[in-house]
Amino acid sequence: MSAVIIDGYTVAATVRAQVAKSVSALVGQGITPCLSVVLVGEDPASVSYVSGKEKALREVGMKDASYRLPATTTEEELITLIHRLNADTTVHGILVQLPLPRHINEARVIMAINPEKDVDGFHPVNIGNMVIERPCFLPCTPHGVMYLLKNAGIETRGAHAVVVGRSNIVGKPLSILLARKDSNATVSVCHTGTRDLASITRQADILIAAAGKPRMISADMIKPGAAVIDVGVNRVEDDSSPKGYRLVGDVDFDAALEVASFITPVPRGVGPMTIAMLMENTLLSAERVARSS
Ligand code: GUN
Repeated sequence: MSAVIIDGYTVAATVRAQVAKSVSALVGQGITPCLSVVLVGEDPASVSYVSGKEKALREVGMKDASYRLPATTTEEELITLIHRLNADTTVHGILVQLPLPRHINEARVIMAINPEKDVDGFHPVNIGNMVIERPCFLPCTPHGVMYLLKNAGIETRGAHAVVVGRSNIVGKPLSILLARKDSNATVSVCHTGTRDLASITRQADILIAAAGKPRMISADMIKPGAAVIDVGVNRVEDDSSPKGYRLVGDVDFDAALEVASFITPVPRGVGPMTIAMLMENTLLSAERVARSS
């Protein structure tokens, strides 16, 4: 058996095309949705992610009000910028790329963002609303995963979903979304403290790998017929590639292909969905402003 490969790149392109249409309608009403992406420092993976977000903004016709700040930027300088963007009525979304340099307190920075412009869905107000199933910005990667599951027709209701990883960006919010009434999965969250990980992953109808460890999920950790969603993006050395590295997920893709029913590749799986959901969240923010003006 060979799994169906979920083409996140194509699904994301469809979402972006829908967003572009709505952006064009808003522009006709005199409002151009605008996102401010703030990058501090030059971490190569972050630079690459931010470039992808900027490219998507151009593609959907939104305004890009991004900032690239030196790694020496202080926490106060960053928070001052955020306050300025909070007050700027032409800016509808603010995203501070994580991780931040170690001298900056990430939680303090996230809490400085106006929750109504927090299109990343990282502010505690948005996280709280997500938990109690009230309207909010959903974090982009978990939202993208839920979209892919639905789009592929993978039933979450009654399924046992196992999430490997408990990061604030992916594992924790995704486990909440899967367990919410509108998804109704039974959820196990595995992490570095989990004993006998394989015995738990083998029970998964839906297995989400979000640990950030290259190819840690081997074929024998997957139940035959499971849907496998690989959120990992890891750079591994590859002398045959012009860049000297290549991207792999947390799942041993080639081996898993023979066991799973569905699988997302890396790249072109979950990654493009994160950006598509960011565009959608920014559009929603601008539409809210348009309704209230
Ligand atoms: N770093 C890795 N993923 C993300 C994301 O979705 N948002 C932000 N702000 N930083 C990230």
